[in-house]
Amino acid sequence: MRIIEVKDYQQMSKRAAEYIINKVVQNPSIKLGLATGGTPIGTYKSLIEDHQKNGTSYQKVTTFNLDEYIGLSSDNKNSYRYFMNDHLFNYIDINKAKTNIPSGIAPDFQEECHRYEDIISRHGGIDLQILGIGSNGHIGFNEPGTSFGSKTHIVNLAPSTIQANARFFSRIEEVPTKAITMGISTILKSKEILLLISGEKKKDALCRLLNGKINESFPASVLKNHPCVTIIADKVAIADLE
Ligand code: F6R
Repeated sequence: MRIIEVKDYQQMSKRAAEYIINKVVQNPSIKLGLATGGTPIGTYKSLIEDHQKNGTSYQKVTTFNLDEYIGLSSDNKNSYRYFMNDHLFNYIDINKAKTNIPSGIAPDFQEECHRYEDIISRHGGIDLQILGIGSNGHIGFNEPGTSFGSKTHIVNLAPSTIQANARFFSRIEEVPTKAITMGISTILKSKEILLLISGEKKKDALCRLLNGKINESFPASVLKNHPCVTIIADKVAIADLE
């Protein structure tokens, strides 16, 4: 794993956006894996700024998001579909038909999991997957204990994840307790992974990722098995490692 250390959240976002833009310019039909949450918001903002200033085009790009809350439809402000439209897709020239997010309201969730795996495979897999990390080491919504062999599946969110995500909702009771997520093996099949880590709350997770063993009790540790992972982390998150 290669680590790029940057000063702060803003620099992380800028650097991550440059990284993504380079890949899009090199391969305009790139298949991007995208994440939601607080971490990539600045990166998406930088992508929009670049699109407006330099005209980087996303017309041929296909995207696959990691996850979606069960029970939230695309017009719910807390759904990840709404998030992606609101933080990125509405402001770049991407074809929304090429943006894929698992459905949180599918009539048959087992079927939806198969459909999602299948659509990723039919596109030849993900070229570059953007990831954040939970303080308990989750990637996507793969909580501690998830099998490294897992494919897209339904999960019960850990209390710590519900607590952490409550900041986006008006009341913690509104946070869904289940989600649909790409599995760990789905994520690992991406040709390249860009992991973004910022802030005090992620210090322990980064330390455990770099110094701990590869174990299902800390899902992100599986990234050490991947041949092409770049971490962009800010000084605060990296502090304990120096
Ligand atoms: C989001 C996702 C999650 C987040 C993680 C960190 O699509 O898959 O794994 O990346 O929960 O969230 P933030 O960035 O809000 O700290």
